[in-house]
Amino acid sequence: MNILVTGGLGFIGSHTVVELLNNNYDVVVVDNLSNSTIDVIDNIEKITSKKFKFYNIDVCNYDDLKTVFKENKIDSVIHFAGYKAVGESVDNPIMYYENNLYSSIILCKVMNEFNVNSLVFSSSATVYGIPKSLPMKEDFPLSATSPYGTTKLMIENILKDISISNPNFSPVILRYFNPAGAHSSGLIGENPKGIPNNLMPYIMRVATGDLEELSVFGNDYDTHDGTGVRDYIHVVDLAKGHLKAIEKSMNTSGVKVYNLGTGVGYSVLDLVNTFSKVNNVPIPYKIVGRRAGDIASCYADPSKAYNELGWRAELSMEDMCRDSYNFIMKQKEAKN
Ligand code: UFG
Repeated sequence: MNILVTGGLGFIGSHTVVELLNNNYDVVVVDNLSNSTIDVIDNIEKITSKKFKFYNIDVCNYDDLKTVFKENKIDSVIHFAGYKAVGESVDNPIMYYENNLYSSIILCKVMNEFNVNSLVFSSSATVYGIPKSLPMKEDFPLSATSPYGTTKLMIENILKDISISNPNFSPVILRYFNPAGAHSSGLIGENPKGIPNNLMPYIMRVATGDLEELSVFGNDYDTHDGTGVRDYIHVVDLAKGHLKAIEKSMNTSGVKVYNLGTGVGYSVLDLVNTFSKVNNVPIPYKIVGRRAGDIASCYADPSKAYNELGWRAELSMEDMCRDSYNFIMKQKEAKN
C-alpha cells in the first residue's frame, strides 16, 4: 500500500515515515523544507534500511501536487504539512490561514480528482480551547484561542463537510496532545530553528548549555506544584497511532476523531526534574509570570483510541527525556 505523507520530513512526520517503512508500507513524502532539513531523508533511510520517494514541493501548489498523484498510485494520505507555532500565528494570522487552509483544500481537491478517499489529518488538542473539565474527550465543545488553533478547527470542519458530500471519504482526525521525545537512534527528533517556544525543546537547549536557563511561566496555577500541567506523549507512540488510523480509514467511511495522548498530566517542574534525573544534567530555571493564553491543565481521555483503534501510548516520561537528550547531544556532536 502506497501512503503519501505531506510534511513527512518534520518532527512527527519523520517518525511516522519510519513506522510506515518498518511496517512495509510504500511511502511518498512531499515536504517544502520550510521547517525541516534534507538530511532527515538519509537518517530515515539509515534507521529503516529502506528507501522512499521524495518531492520537494509545496502542497499549496495544485499543479505540483497533481504531478505526485499522476506519478504514484496513492492509497491513503497522512497530512502533516502546516505551520504550527501558536505565538507566530497571533503575529501573522494571514500567513497561517493562507498556508494551513489553502494546502488542505488543495490536497482534498486533488484527492477527490484522483478518487483517493482515505486521509489521516494532524489536528491538535488546541481545538478544545479552554476545556470545560478534565480529562478532555472527543465530544467536548470545540473552540480556538489562536489563529493556529482556528486553522485546525476549520480544517476539521472542511473534512466533515466533504464527507457529507462524498460518503466514500473517510478522514481520521487525530488530536495530538504535547509531542516530545525523539527516535531512540538519536538520528531524528525536534530541533527548531531559533529560540524554541515549546517546553521540551527549550529544556534540551538548556541541557546542552546553549541556553542559560529555563523560564517557568507561572507557579500559581491550580495544579499540584503550581506550574502548568500537560499530557506529554512520546513522538514514536504518536507515530504508531497514525498506522492504526490508516487501517481505520481504509476499512470504514465517514469522519472519525481520536485523542492521541497518554491520559496522564505532568507539570513543568515534573518534566524539569525527570529530565535532570534521567540524564544526570542540571536544568537551571527561574519562575517568571504566566504566558498569555496558557491554561492550567490539559490532558486527554485516550480511551476512544484504545477501544476503536487498539492504540495506546507505551513509552514513559523517562523515555521522552532520555531520547530527547540523546538526540540533541548527537546533533551538537555532529556540529562540532
Ligand atoms: N512552558 C514554560 N516555559 C517555556 C515553555 C513552556 O514554562 O519556556 C510551559 C507552558 O507555560 C506550559 C507547558 O510548559 O505550561 C507546555 O508548553 P508548550 O509551549 O510546550 O506547549 P503548549 O501546551 O502551550 O502547546 C502545545 C502545542 C500547541 C498546541 C497546544 C494545545 O505546542 O501546538 O499544545 O494542544 F496547540
